[in-house]
Amino acid sequence: MTLEQIFNYTKQTGYIYQGSEIYGGLSNTWDYGPLGSLLKQNLKNAFIKRFVTETPYNVLVDTSILLNKSVWEASGHLKGFSDPLTECLNCHTRHRADHLITVKNSDGWDNDKLYNYLVDNNIKCPSCGKSKWHEIRQFNLMFKTNQGVIDDVANTVYLRPETAQGIFINFKNIQRTTRRKIPFGVAQIGKSFRNEITPGNFIFRTREFEQMELEFFCKPGTEIEWFDYWYKEMVTFLLDLGLSKENIGSHEHSKEELSHYSNKTIDILYRYPWGFDELWGIASRTDFDLSAHQELSGENFEYLDPETNERYIPYVVEPSLGVERLLLAILKEGIKTETLEDGSTREVLKIIPALAPYKVAVLPLIKNKHQDKANEVYNKLAKHFSCVYDETQNIGRRYRRQDQIGTPYCVTIDHDTLIDGTVTLRERDSMEQKRLTIDKVIKFVSEKIKF
Ligand code: GAP
Repeated sequence: MTLEQIFNYTKQTGYIYQGSEIYGGLSNTWDYGPLGSLLKQNLKNAFIKRFVTETPYNVLVDTSILLNKSVWEASGHLKGFSDPLTECLNCHTRHRADHLITVKNSDGWDNDKLYNYLVDNNIKCPSCGKSKWHEIRQFNLMFKTNQGVIDDVANTVYLRPETAQGIFINFKNIQRTTRRKIPFGVAQIGKSFRNEITPGNFIFRTREFEQMELEFFCKPGTEIEWFDYWYKEMVTFLLDLGLSKENIGSHEHSKEELSHYSNKTIDILYRYPWGFDELWGIASRTDFDLSAHQELSGENFEYLDPETNERYIPYVVEPSLGVERLLLAILKEGIKTETLEDGSTREVLKIIPALAPYKVAVLPLIKNKHQDKANEVYNKLAKHFSCVYDETQNIGRRYRRQDQIGTPYCVTIDHDTLIDGTVTLRERDSMEQKRLTIDKVIKFVSEKIKF
């Protein structure tokens, strides 16, 4: 599956459209169509089920995108959330300097070293092929805007570049109101914004994206145990969603790569069309965030252990996942072209039923004869799971259309349905068919779509 094939597939099926298309587009923005938005929602539901409602440890919050500027001062984003920017002096395109090179520097790169590397190694501009570079400077990735009617520095606010900080600043509120004891975690799903210098690879790196994050608060000294626990849960989650083992990799950060506050970080990688790249990060962040907010806000973030009477600032283990990166991996894994026994081919999206936008397609065999009954069946099934109704073209074509968008089951209403109430249930992957009553269809499908 090349990225272009995935892109064409999503466009053709209505999973994803180009953003602002009728005005020539807005670069690197994408709109999720009827199928894409349901798939996204199903991914988020799976995350909430696995990492919130099914575990005894975690709760969910939904905090603001706009936060007090001090949040970004304490977290270090105002000062340090930047990437090295350079400009091609020939064609004036701007590039992220560390993305122009593939080598790693064991001592880490600073701007001078990066610049010297570009010049000494005659690194070419990806846009024009020349090698004339502007000195490198740090470019802050946070989107700025103004709150209120006065366009003034005092009213500057930032769109959050991660959902995590909304959790940290509410640590006391959450702990007090839920009466949770350490260890416990707080999850959040929401939009984040980064003014990336070089977005790209379709929905992999964009300036507006969604994150599913978990901040897990634990006692200092237990963080590596919890890190290992959540790491295993993350890998299990990906396998359960249908990603295959051989397409999942990992990269543990070396000492030089670790952020100054982290004592362990691993990126879970997925084999995207261009190779293994970051899907999900997990970082042990020590007490950096809570301590920083305690210091700047004056709020006491110490936790009093009711059993041991110890006081400490909790340590944090943070798994952080991009919804769109997960969606891209699911599509890459699932889109297949199959050759059938009769030599014809079919395009089929093999995703697990829990993720499929529509669980069942309701199809009247002959439109004029079976339409009323099919509508009745649709209304009954739609009370239990997401369904789609299709009466156009012949039944074979309709099956193919549903295969292509990943609908795991088709229910066909025919002459016998009018007599005995049974329907044909066709399975997407095996294409096997069986006769069932509507009640049995509901029972069967409800069981199969569980996550
Ligand atoms: N709170 C920690 C944090 O935000 P991160 O590694 O910067 O860590 C976490 O981001 C995840 O968010 C990444 O692993 C990726 O899945 C997703 N992500 C980050 N930047 C992204 C972008 N520009 N476009 C799409 N997804 C992105």
